[in-house]
Amino acid sequence: MLNNTLAYGLEAVENQLQSIVDSDVQLLADAGLHIISSGGKRLRPQLAILAYLAAGGQDLDVVIPAAAAVEMVHTATLVHDDINDHSLLRRGKITVHAKWGRTFALLAGDYLFTKVYELMAAYPPEYNGIMATACIRLVEGETMQAEAAKAGVMDRETYKTIISRKTASLFEAGARMGSMLADADENTIEALADYAYNLGLTFQIVDDILDIIGDPEEMGKPVGADIAQHRGVMAVQDGVLEEVVAVTAVAEADDPLAQMMARLRESGAVEVARRQAEEMAQRAHAALTAIPESEARQEMVALIDMVLNRQK
Ligand code: IPE
Ligand code: IPE
Ligand code: MG
Ligand code: MG
Repeated sequence: MLNNTLAYGLEAVENQLQSIVDSDVQLLADAGLHIISSGGKRLRPQLAILAYLAAGGQDLDVVIPAAAAVEMVHTATLVHDDINDHSLLRRGKITVHAKWGRTFALLAGDYLFTKVYELMAAYPPEYNGIMATACIRLVEGETMQAEAAKAGVMDRETYKTIISRKTASLFEAGARMGSMLADADENTIEALADYAYNLGLTFQIVDDILDIIGDPEEMGKPVGADIAQHRGVMAVQDGVLEEVVAVTAVAEADDPLAQMMARLRESGAVEVARRQAEEMAQRAHAALTAIPESEARQEMVALIDMVLNRQK
């Protein structure tokens, strides 16, 4: 029953994403479709839909544009993030900037961002406020990350602030809007927002772990980007980042990146990060106890394990 509802919702999101990127400027339509149709886990729209259902929502069509909008923000940031991270592969396909060049990738990302206004236009101001806050946090997080990486001062506290803003905020916004659209009471809204926020933290820590131990084939994106750019889970283990900066600064070293990947695996940083991910997952779990039992809630519990144990 839930599976059918979820499948219906996600298909509706897909249709909305695909149709809304159409433009008579062919390049924008092509680049938009390229990234949207390359797949992706669609975790954020799924969260918005599940929160709507867990909060008692009955008419899925109400939440579709908001769910699509959350995924659209994510998609736009990926296009820009790949420029900043010099990544050539995303979702198993060539990145937008590698295919169309940096100028058009910047514009394509802008185009996708502006589509968020269009998707959100039907909702009252408070929903647009939630979305705006999430987008602001995301850009702040990415900016703080670039600053900290440049300065080589990515400590544990800074790392937590960064992942909270760049990733968890958008997860939270999706669940918050979903539960509000179901007319949930304040406690339910806060519980679902808290769940999604902690799931987002878990998700980013695992993503950073996968940047060290993941399989690029399976993930459809490169590994090692965080080490090359002095960030990620090395922040959780004191002293490791300093070592990374020192080693990668030695220009004549044979293959500093490979060396650092190996050293980082030995440093114990992955295990420390893993424990932190588990702690955040626990918090996500605890938040759900305030929600009445339902199929949607069960699915949200299952998502925690999926996020913790994912390989891609
Ligand atoms: C990638 O997110 C960016 C991060 C926040 C780590 P996802 O792993 O959800 O990307 P897709 O949508 O599945 O490609
Ligand atoms: C997440 O960070 C990007 C955003 C939240 C925009 P990453 O840089 O770790 O994402 P990937 O690894 O490239 O997907
Ligand atoms: Mg990246
Ligand atoms: Mg990453």
